[in-house]
Amino acid sequence: MKLNRQTDQRIVIAISGGIAAYKTVGVIRELQKRGYRDIETILTANGARFVTPVTLSAITGNIPYADTFEAGRALSHISLVQPCGILAVVPATADIIAKFACGIADDFLSTAYLACTGPVLAAPSMNAEMYRHATTLRNLEQLKKDGVHVLDPDSGYLACGTEGPGRMPDAEIVADVIEHVLHRHIGGPLSGRKVVIASGGTAEPIDPVRTITNRSTGRMGKALATAFSLAGASVEIVTGIGNARYPAYCRQTIAETASEMLNAVIEKATDADIIVMAAAVADYTPATVLREKKKKDENNLHLELKPTTDILKTLGTQYEGKKILVGFAAETSNVEDHAKKKLTEKKADLIVGNLVGVPDSGFGAESSRAVLVQKGEISDSYDKIEKEQLAFCIVEKVVAMLESRQ
Ligand code: CTP
Repeated sequence: MKLNRQTDQRIVIAISGGIAAYKTVGVIRELQKRGYRDIETILTANGARFVTPVTLSAITGNIPYADTFEAGRALSHISLVQPCGILAVVPATADIIAKFACGIADDFLSTAYLACTGPVLAAPSMNAEMYRHATTLRNLEQLKKDGVHVLDPDSGYLACGTEGPGRMPDAEIVADVIEHVLHRHIGGPLSGRKVVIASGGTAEPIDPVRTITNRSTGRMGKALATAFSLAGASVEIVTGIGNARYPAYCRQTIAETASEMLNAVIEKATDADIIVMAAAVADYTPATVLREKKKKDENNLHLELKPTTDILKTLGTQYEGKKILVGFAAETSNVEDHAKKKLTEKKADLIVGNLVGVPDSGFGAESSRAVLVQKGEISDSYDKIEKEQLAFCIVEKVVAMLESRQ
C-alpha cells in the first residue's frame, strides 16, 4: 500500500465577510505548498468586500463561486460539493454560522453547505463580544451537534482594537486542521491506533545557564507526526528542544531532559500501539546540576557525567512483540552496520539509519540519506529522500507490521 497525502481531494474554501478574510489567501497558499491542487473557493457577498475574485482566481486558477444564479453555472452549489473532500469556511462570521445553524439557504454558500456530502469545517472569527454572545455560542453548539468541525478562534489582539477570543489562527494551523479533518473523513489504515513520537533533542543542565545538547531540530519528528496522523492514528508527541512546529491537532508534552523524556514516553506508551523514538537523546548528563552559575576557572575544567537510561532499549525489553517499536540511528559513517546493531541491541522492530553531518541529510536538513532495517536486514535504502516522504515510508512499514501481527 502506498501512503501519502490525499492531494487529489477537492478542497472548497468558503470566505465570508470578516476582516480575517485576508488571512485566507495564506491558508490556500499553505495547502498548495502541501500539494493540494484542486482548490475551489466560494465568496459570500460580504466576503468579496475583503478579498476580490481576481485574487482568488489568480492563486487557485479557478473563478470563485459567488452567485447561485450565475449564467453557465446552474446547479453548481450542488456539483461543487458533491463530492468534495472538505468544505472549509474560513473565516466563518456570526451571520453564516447562524444561517448554517438554522438551515437558511439564501445564497451560494448556505445552499452549498446543505448540499455538501463531505465534512465541513468552520473557523469562526469576529469581535470578542460577538463571539461570546449567547446567540453565537448557541449556534456554534448546534453546528457541532450537526457534525460540523469547529476550529476555535485564538485569543489575542483583534482588528477592532480589543483583546479576546475571535482571532483566526495562523494559516499553517488552519491548513493543519483542514488536512486533518479531510483525512479523518477518508479514514486511514491506522484509524483507532495510538502512536507516541519522541522528537527533538534533549538538553541536560550543567547550571542555570548552560546545557549539554545536540543539533536536533525535530524536523523528522514533525514529518512523522504528520504522516502518522494523516494515516488515521492519534498522535502524542513528546518533544525536547528544537524549533519544529508540530501539527496543531497532535497532543504535545515537553520533556527537555533525557530523564523527563524517559518518564513521559514510558507514561504515554502504556496505551500506545506504536512508539517512535525519533529524538536525539543525550547519552550522558552532568552528575550534579549546579545551583549557581559555574564561574570561569582554568584549574577546574572537569565536568563529571553519568549515563542516562536508554529509552528505546527500556521499551524494547518491556514491549518486544507487543507494540511496534521504531528507532533511529544517527550516524556519521557505517550507517547500515550501526543500524543493524541498534536493531538487535534495542529489540526494536524497525531502525531508520540515517547519515548526519552532511548538508543534505541529518539534523535540520529537508532530506535524508537513509536505510530501513527490519529483522536484521536492510529492507529499503534511499540515496536521498525528503523527510516527509521518508515518514510516509516508515508509516507504510508500520502498517504492514501491524497487519502481519493480526
Ligand atoms: N535513544 C534512546 N535513549 C537514549 C539514547 C538513544 O531512546 N538514552 C534512542 C534514540 O532515540 C534512537 C536510538 O536510540 O531512536 C539510537 O540513538 P543514537 O543516538 O543513534 O544511538 P545511541 O544508542 O545513543 O548510540 P551512539 O550514540 O553510540 O551511536
